[in-house]
Amino acid sequence: MVKNMEYRIGQVVQGIVTGIKPYGAFVKVDDRYDGMIHISEISSDFVRDVHYFVKLGEKIVVKIIDINPENNHLTLSLKAVQPSRHTRRSYSRITVKGSDTGFEVLKAALPQWIKKEKEIMKLDYSRALLQEDLKDYQEKVNEIHESVMNKTCKGNDYIGWVEWPYSYDKEEFDRIKEAAGEIREKADVLLVCGIGGSYLGARSAIEMMKGLYPDDKPEIIYCGNGLSSTYLMQILKHIEGKSVYCNVISKSGTTTETAVAFRIFEQYIVEHYGVEESKKRIIATTDKARGTLKELADKKGYRTFVIPDDIGGRYSVFTAVGLLPIAAAGIDIDELMKGCQQAYEDFRDPDLDMNIAYQYAVIRRILEKQGKSNEILVTYEPSMTMIAEWWKQLYGESEGKEGKGIYPASVTFTTDLHSMGQFIQEGNKTFFETVLTLEEPMLDMNFPADEANLDNMNYLAGKNLDWINKMACRGTVDAHVDTGNVPNVLLTLKDNSAFSYGYMIYFFFRACAMTVLMLDVNPFNQPGVEVYKKNMFKLLGKI
Ligand code: PA5
Repeated sequence: MVKNMEYRIGQVVQGIVTGIKPYGAFVKVDDRYDGMIHISEISSDFVRDVHYFVKLGEKIVVKIIDINPENNHLTLSLKAVQPSRHTRRSYSRITVKGSDTGFEVLKAALPQWIKKEKEIMKLDYSRALLQEDLKDYQEKVNEIHESVMNKTCKGNDYIGWVEWPYSYDKEEFDRIKEAAGEIREKADVLLVCGIGGSYLGARSAIEMMKGLYPDDKPEIIYCGNGLSSTYLMQILKHIEGKSVYCNVISKSGTTTETAVAFRIFEQYIVEHYGVEESKKRIIATTDKARGTLKELADKKGYRTFVIPDDIGGRYSVFTAVGLLPIAAAGIDIDELMKGCQQAYEDFRDPDLDMNIAYQYAVIRRILEKQGKSNEILVTYEPSMTMIAEWWKQLYGESEGKEGKGIYPASVTFTTDLHSMGQFIQEGNKTFFETVLTLEEPMLDMNFPADEANLDNMNYLAGKNLDWINKMACRGTVDAHVDTGNVPNVLLTLKDNSAFSYGYMIYFFFRACAMTVLMLDVNPFNQPGVEVYKKNMFKLLGKI
């Protein structure tokens, strides 16, 4: 009966995918044995299309779950040896070298699996409903990558951010830490006065890392990012009796919103603390040599920090623009710089098999070709709403020119599932979603049991709150992709640490430059912003 039987049930072997059908995949294990993975054994997650999990000709690791010795046929399982949906794309591409079978194969693949596990950011495009292969864009990507690295791309006078993870001014960095230490020691309130790129980065970082209700000093209050009289006057009232520092941030030094707020708070500080003490309490971040703010700060003796000439506002969060308020909030900016250095290393190779920043850049262009002219960034943490605001500025201001570009929008789930969720599920399908989630939440707790259970919620008792949030996310992705036919790009960030934040921001920078240059648009200017200013100045009587 069982002649020359070499395999046993439960053994892990490797094989090559020789055929893919709607009901499963055929796998050749060796010269004599063929196998079949039924669709139900592909993944423990929902399998919409077997192609998302295995590729023809791919070498994969599978578990034998049954053997038919009569015809040398093996029944195989991929899900028994594969991780879950959020990582499967990269895992399924792991190639195991050599012809060993069994434990040795797993051992060989282990370092790669461990490396994947440690990844700071993961991108899964298996739910993106792409109709093209990313690799078809490799040549174009190489060309653009080269032009960014050798500074010949469009807008090349504003690409100081590319090398900034290493080239940043170390002396100024130390001064930032010193000033931040002083603010933390002396201030109850830090007013961060700036708009657009001179504001969004710092706020996005501070909210993501500290949460919306941090319990330490100083309280960070953002001003100069609008012209609401009510907003400004409420701040004036709110800071009364508190120890106040102000960091005014403006590269041009002439931005109206910032200048209006700054004059009001500068006068407040001088009135309350006197001219000499104000020199300590007011810190300006601006151009190193030119501009109204630089002149004003020098004349009045305020400390200044520099916004480098070759870094535009929305690419400036790793400069003093972001770093001073971030450090003043008590966040470790050394870790933040280490995160962006790690990202620099991870994205220096343009290979689309490896470089997730460029994968994201290309995915956006493919989806645009598929008729998706809007992108919705989805977050599941209220403390990441400002990340979405920062991201909208980065992509909107960089890309929306010459009648081109994808319109960037955002939602915070699950709250917006009760408002925009209806449109996303069943409305006009001109958009795709990019879902940005955290693998590990900042805080978590068990949902409590209740003896009376009058609210019928005991079915969740003992479950982590974050697990409940994650299940909502999975259910939503399935609903939007499978029923709503909305492409979903899934980005998972390890945690809300300074390192991860630095990594993510640099990921978005690299992806943004690539995706916009693919449109042959300059990603680093914003000529359209001037139009409203001209009109406003005319109405305000500015001479
Ligand atoms: O990205 C940009 O360049 C803009 O959003 C600016 O940061 C914003 O307009 C503020 O400009 P400034 O720093 O000159 O006050």
